[in-house]
Order: sequence, then C-alpha cells, then structure tokens
Amino acid sequence: MEHNFRRMDSSTSVPSPTAVLFVCLGNICRSPMAEGVFRHLLIKEGVQDQFVVDSAGTGAWHVGEPPDGRSTQAAARHGVSLSGSARQVQPADLDRFDYVIAMDRENLGELERIQRRSGGRASLHLLREFDPDGGGLDVPDPYYDGARGFETVYRMVRRSCEALLEHLHPASRDP
Ligand code: 4NP
Repeated sequence: MEHNFRRMDSSTSVPSPTAVLFVCLGNICRSPMAEGVFRHLLIKEGVQDQFVVDSAGTGAWHVGEPPDGRSTQAAARHGVSLSGSARQVQPADLDRFDYVIAMDRENLGELERIQRRSGGRASLHLLREFDPDGGGLDVPDPYYDGARGFETVYRMVRRSCEALLEHLHPASRDP
C-alpha cells in the first residue's frame, strides 16, 4: 500500500505522523501481529492520527496473502484484529518510514544490507530491544509451531509494542 506520509513542507504547521514499519520474514505471522497490536494500542491511547503503521516481509513467498489464521486467532483472543495482505520490503521503505522494527536478527541483518546498498533515513531496531521482560533479542518464528507458540509470540509482541509506543510517544502509558 502506498502511503502519503512524507514530511510536510516547512510552511505548514501540521505535524507529520511518525511512520513505523514492522518486518519479519513472510509478513504473515509476526509482523502483521505487531502491526495489529501497535494499531490497537494507538487507538486505545487515542493517538492513531499521529502514526502511520504498516508491515512487510523480507521474503516474497507469501506476497498477497492475508495474515496466518493462527496469528489472527491468537490476536483475536486478546481483542486485537489483524488486517492487510503480505508484501515484500522495498528499498524505498527504508527512507519512507521513520522506524523499521525487525522481528529478529536475521531480518534486521537483511534490512541493514538493503540500507547500506540503497540508503534511507529509517532508524532500524529489533522489536525486543523494547521488551521490558528481556529474555532474548528475537521474536521466534512461530510458523512451524502450534497455537501455543503463537500465544507466546503474542505476549512478547504485546509487551514490546507497549514499550515501543511509550518510547515513541511518552504520554501514552498503560493504566
Ligand atoms: P513470519 O513467519 O516471518 O512471522 O511471517 C513465517 C512465515 C512463512 C515462512 C517462514 C516464516 N515460510 O517459510 O514460508
């Protein structure tokens, strides 16, 4: 999806939204979940107008597919709905987005390679840099797991996204 969220020119006083892209391998399990959870938190905090959120995969195998049903179900159990269809990361994403948040180190490495080659001002991070519980750097790939793996991933993504939002928008705080 094309977004019209490049910086406003300096003649306007309307602040431009902060653009956040979540990235995993297939863009069907982890990153759509992170996108849906982050969007849910934005709405809960009433700051959705201040952000643009999307997700993408470093791989192209699942382009066009909806989120994996196991991700959708895990999120739905917590009142979070997932949407969108899978797309592959493009070099332009690394300039268009302010923050590109990778689900694991392998995907972060791929994003760093793209940025070295094509440039871009995006700040690259691992989602679990923000995990208040620590315990590792990667959101593990749940693709070959059962529902329990997806629930574990949901909890990791949820607490990390809450901390990410607190980092990007300090006025937002979970009660
Ligand atoms: P995701 O999970 O990167 O969290 O979307 C995966 C989805 C598909 C595959 C691997 C991981 N796959 O190998 O097809």
